[in-house]
Amino acid sequence: MVSEDAGVSDEAGGGVGEDDGRWRTLLDALLEALPAGAVVQGPDDRVLAANRRFTRMFGAEVRAGGMPVFGAESRAGGIPGGRHVHRTAEIPLADGRTLRRVIEPLRHGGAYLGALWTYDDITEHKRRERDLERDNVALTELARQRNAFTAAASHELRTPLTSIISFCELLTDPAFGALTHEQASFLEAVRRNADRMQRVISDLLLTTRMRATAGLELEFGAVEVDRMLLDAVLDRMGAAQEAGLFTVLECAPGPLLRGDRHRLQNVLANLLENAAKYTPAGGRISVTAAPHGEFWEIEVADTGIGVPEEFREEIFNGFVRAPNARTGGYPGTGLGLAISRAIVQLHGGAITVGGAEGGGAAFVIRLPVAGPPPAGETA
Ligand SMILES: Nc1ncnc2c1ncn2[C@@H]1O[C@H](COP(=O)(O)OP(=O)(O)OP(=O)(O)O)[C@@H](O)[C@H]1O
Ligand SMILES: [Mg+2]
Repeated sequence: MVSEDAGVSDEAGGGVGEDDGRWRTLLDALLEALPAGAVVQGPDDRVLAANRRFTRMFGAEVRAGGMPVFGAESRAGGIPGGRHVHRTAEIPLADGRTLRRVIEPLRHGGAYLGALWTYDDITEHKRRERDLERDNVALTELARQRNAFTAAASHELRTPLTSIISFCELLTDPAFGALTHEQASFLEAVRRNADRMQRVISDLLLTTRMRATAGLELEFGAVEVDRMLLDAVLDRMGAAQEAGLFTVLECAPGPLLRGDRHRLQNVLANLLENAAKYTPAGGRISVTAAPHGEFWEIEVADTGIGVPEEFREEIFNGFVRAPNARTGGYPGTGLGLAISRAIVQLHGGAITVGGAEGGGAAFVIRLPVAGPPPAGETA
């Protein structure tokens, strides 16, 4: 390091004998300038110089010419052999500190001149690392507990809810007596809300199952994209019209897609439901699809409230809802997109959201025509 090509002039290099003092001063100054505890050893392992940081670190005087005083370190594992190669080690000391030691051999033209030992106190860094590891373990356990709780709670809610729904149905049966108009509308409200609860519960069960098994079983087949889109749009047409929305579908011709039609329908239903929910009356929903190379690209865009830029990734996580959806009084649990993304990813595809013209949202699904790559291969 302090070697031949470091810009040292011939004059200085030539007069090593008389300039010994100068070289010594330079070496000391260099060591002091290092941001670490440092020791220089000669080829015979004797200490040539050490800086004050080193002395403070070990609380020991190192006399030039003496053998290195690595007492604390020796107790913690000894001075390594093979000093002629670059080595790094983390050394826990008895007083609780951890030091990182780097040994850099010093050579000149193939000759071994000794070694530069540097020490950094990494105690704080190690402590933070340990804290992070502990937090990670705790978070994983919390996630597991949350998952187990959600699964158990949804199961528990399912049975009474099924009973509520069937009693609602029984009450509408004229055999049990006619209902007044008001009673019928109250009953209808109970039924509507019970249905909504049932949907939330099945979403919850689906997400917990996805987390638990790291994937749903898909049934792959040949999917006609245009037919699938038409069915999805027609299924929701009534609701969209009721909400005063205009729906447009445009699908370019293209190859059959290898996928699970039923699950992909779930994804489209979620996107169309969102588009209708987050778009005020008078707006427009457009579904556009076309093959691009090895992929089918399907876009569901609307003219609604849009997704704020800083939430365009987060909304795909379970239970996350953007502030404009939360404060705008739109009902929701924040599960639809998490499920949709999981399904699309199981197809080897991706789903993202951007802004649409007029400030709405534009969701884009990209699905590989050939389906997901075989297990073991990376996409
Ligand atoms: N078309 C859209 N326009 C604007 N924001 C949207 C749209 N679709 C989704 N979002 C935002 O993404 C969030 C997550 O959507 P997601 O479908 O996962 O949940 P949700 O609609 O709130 O509830 P649910 O679980 O009933 O679907 C929404 O709360 C909303 O903030
Ligand atoms: Mg939704």
